[in-house]
Amino acid sequence: MKGHIKEGMSVIDFGCGPGYFTMEIARMLNNSGKVIAADLQDGMLDIVRNKINGSGFENIIELHKCGEDNTGINEKADFVFAFYVVHEVPNHDNFFNEIYSLLNAVGKFYIVEPNFHVSKSEFEEMINKLKSFRFEIIDRPKIFFSRAVLVGKTGNV
Ligand SMILES: C[S@@+](CC[C@H](N)C(=O)[O-])C[C@H]1O[C@@H](n2cnc3c(N)ncnc32)[C@H](O)[C@@H]1O
Repeated sequence: MKGHIKEGMSVIDFGCGPGYFTMEIARMLNNSGKVIAADLQDGMLDIVRNKINGSGFENIIELHKCGEDNTGINEKADFVFAFYVVHEVPNHDNFFNEIYSLLNAVGKFYIVEPNFHVSKSEFEEMINKLKSFRFEIIDRPKIFFSRAVLVGKTGNV
């Protein structure tokens, strides 16, 4: 993630959970740009809300409640971060299609999945699906206990 997130960017922390990465991303943005912390569960968003209060990042973090079948986000982003969540999304076709349209032309989508939940072949299948939705691989970062891929829009990576 480091090196790809730059000041002024608009970043979606999809499936933000309790917001560990939301706060990290906000730090990387150095009080510029924006982080949308998006999750299905109100309880998680409440935890993030508490973390934001008094953090100094109140102005750049926005909370967003996702729908069951779509993110419901309707603004463009430069970077979408999805840590340990894509395997929980019920319909990958809809999800990848939506992320493609949410991203700016040179936007990037970073997926990290736990290797104890997502097998090598399941992850490869996910990557093939990403390619069928016009994403192209930029990098396959090595992360402990995880499978990761960074993609961009085909022709723009
Ligand atoms: C395993 S947690 C990971 C949380 C966070 N990314 C982290 O690494 O700390 C998965 C999170 O994704 C959220 N989630 C699952 N399916 C989702 C969906 N379809 N839309 C939005 N959030 C979802 C869950 O509510 C949960 O908070």
